[in-house]
Amino acid sequence: MSALICGSFAYDTIMVFQDQFKKHILPDQVHILNVSFLVPDLRREFGGCAGNIAYNLKLLGGEGAPMGTVGADFIPYADWMDELGVSRDYLKEIYGSYTAQAYITTDQDDNQITAFHPGAMNFSHENKVSDASDVTLGLVSPDGRQGMIEHAEQFAAAGIPFMFDPGQGMPMFDGDDLNRFVHQASWLAFNDYEASLMQERTGKTIEQLAQEVRAVIVTRGGEGSLVYTGDKLHEIPAASVGQLQDPTGCGDAYRAGLLYGLQNNLDWEVTGRVASLMGAIKIEHAGTQNHGFTFDEFNSRFKENFGFIL
Ligand SMILES: Nc1ncnc2c1ncn2[C@@H]1O[C@H](COP(=O)(O)OP(=O)(O)OP(=O)(O)O)[C@@H](O)[C@H]1O
Ligand SMILES: [Mg+2]
Repeated sequence: MSALICGSFAYDTIMVFQDQFKKHILPDQVHILNVSFLVPDLRREFGGCAGNIAYNLKLLGGEGAPMGTVGADFIPYADWMDELGVSRDYLKEIYGSYTAQAYITTDQDDNQITAFHPGAMNFSHENKVSDASDVTLGLVSPDGRQGMIEHAEQFAAAGIPFMFDPGQGMPMFDGDDLNRFVHQASWLAFNDYEASLMQERTGKTIEQLAQEVRAVIVTRGGEGSLVYTGDKLHEIPAASVGQLQDPTGCGDAYRAGLLYGLQNNLDWEVTGRVASLMGAIKIEHAGTQNHGFTFDEFNSRFKENFGFIL
């Protein structure tokens, strides 16, 4: 079962300000805000949901290819994907655009000031699901609004079951949009915040949504996750974590575990645990594509956590 992972590609530039923003942003002067933060530490990471999920699925040995739009500045990311052996067959360069990018400045209180430039991502609808061959499983993850809508329609029209994973894209959609996605999708995946927004906007509870699809998956950070299928609820424990480094991208690592389970016909108790361990491994590393393991290492850690092997 080969997965087509539709979603964003982005560079994340992370800078750390060794002080507190509050000492430099003076409340009585915000009408003429003009501040410059000296940031000796700077990291540029490969990110974006489709990029991250494809990376994690590759680690697991799953089958799939990402689909997304990128800019002329994509060369270093492309080299990285080639090194990993992740397919670039369904990436499209949008001329005159930059790859989507986030500039994140963090201070010592963990406050963040972020600027996000969508760039090429806003043209994601220029890719069509039908451009890809041998797709048996789909994912619609955060991307340009039009792209998410059209890719969902295209999966549904082609009879390819897909997971709807709105993530940070959630605010772009109203109740009607979201209900349409539910109607088209076979699986829904949210974190707990997105799940509550989903219930508010669609006017349906998670249990009601679960009646309309094969499963609804809700992740809850260190509290583990829940899989709702019909009238059944699977409670998936979190896996143990060595050192907490960076929660960014745990959701994407988890999604790759879900795709892997679906591809390999694993039941939800096992699929959820694979996904859960992926999130736990990811959180031990800064950035979203800096963790790694062999299948044997994964399996032995899986056994330590859950008492059986894959
Ligand atoms: N502190 C933690 N300990 C163990 N596992 C964790 C922890 N945080 C996250 N995970 C794993 O990763 C999964 C996804 O995390 P989370 O619910 O935070 O997703 P998210 O909010 O979508 O994250 P993001 O969007 O930042 O990638 C969790 O369900 C869990 O399995
Ligand atoms: Mg998320």
